[in-house]
Amino acid sequence: MAVLGTDWTLAGHAGEIPEGQVKQVTVGDVRLAVCNLDGKFFAIEDVCTHDNGPLNQGCLEGEEIECPRHGALFNVRTGEATGMPAVMPVRTFAVHLDGDAIYVHVA
Ligand code: FES
Repeated sequence: MAVLGTDWTLAGHAGEIPEGQVKQVTVGDVRLAVCNLDGKFFAIEDVCTHDNGPLNQGCLEGEEIECPRHGALFNVRTGEATGMPAVMPVRTFAVHLDGDAIYVHVA
C-alpha cells in the first residue's frame, strides 16, 4: 500500500462500484458520493447545492450526475453545476486507488 496521510479514508473497493454506478460513503460528518466513471473513481459531496438532495441516488450519465429531487446536474470530475436549478458547485475530494482499495481525502 502507498503511504497515505491520516486524512485518507478507505471508502470501499472498486469491485463494489460497477462502471456508471455510485456508492454513498460517510467520512466523519461528510457524506460522499463515490462515482465510477469508466473505471476511474471520483468523489463529490453527496449533498445537492440546490436543496440538499442525495446525489448518490441520482443517475450518472457520462461525467454528469443528476440530482433525484429536481434534476440539477453536476460534473463529478469538477463538481461544477452544469444544469439548473443548482448554480453552486459541490465539493470534490481526491481519490487514490491502491489495487482494489479506494481511498478518499477528506480534510
Ligand atoms: S435538491 Fe437537487 S435539484 Fe433540488
